[in-house]
Amino acid sequence: MPARKSTKKSSSKARVARRPKDAIALLRADHAAVQALFDQFEKARDDARKQKLAQQICMELKIHASIEEEIFYPATREFLPKEKDLLDEAEVEHASAKELIAQIEAGGPGTALWEAKVTVLGEYIKHHVKEEQNEMFPKVRKTKLDLQALGAQLQSRKDELTATMH
Ligand SMILES: [Fe+2]
Ligand SMILES: [Fe+2]
Repeated sequence: MPARKSTKKSSSKARVARRPKDAIALLRADHAAVQALFDQFEKARDDARKQKLAQQICMELKIHASIEEEIFYPATREFLPKEKDLLDEAEVEHASAKELIAQIEAGGPGTALWEAKVTVLGEYIKHHVKEEQNEMFPKVRKTKLDLQALGAQLQSRKDELTATMH
């Protein structure tokens, strides 16, 4: 069960300086990183580079989707029970993105529609990210959810998944 915000304030400045990212900052950083990869893909000219970037995009997105589905979305559902539709739609979008990711991973620069699939995935993710950042995250910020503790949970699961997928 996700923790609620603590009422206690830390007085140690050193601790504040070492603070890990809160959940929303972490997810936003992931979004920015994957957007940068999509931008690089669009500019890439040789097939080997496109293949490498696409693989990286797919891996980053799978890890990101997992930490949202395993940790962030359930916590959001608990603290924002009225936003069931928004969360349901986000999960359906993840499922569709994963189908496209599987097709991209199974193909390569020489296979039919491969580049178009990466471009469409990029547009799809842009739409999904916009909804998270403009609709979901501001609502989550207003709840009593402890975003610092949740951020630490997301980071440790992300580290675990990154280690197994690399
Ligand atoms: Fe998402
Ligand atoms: Fe996200």
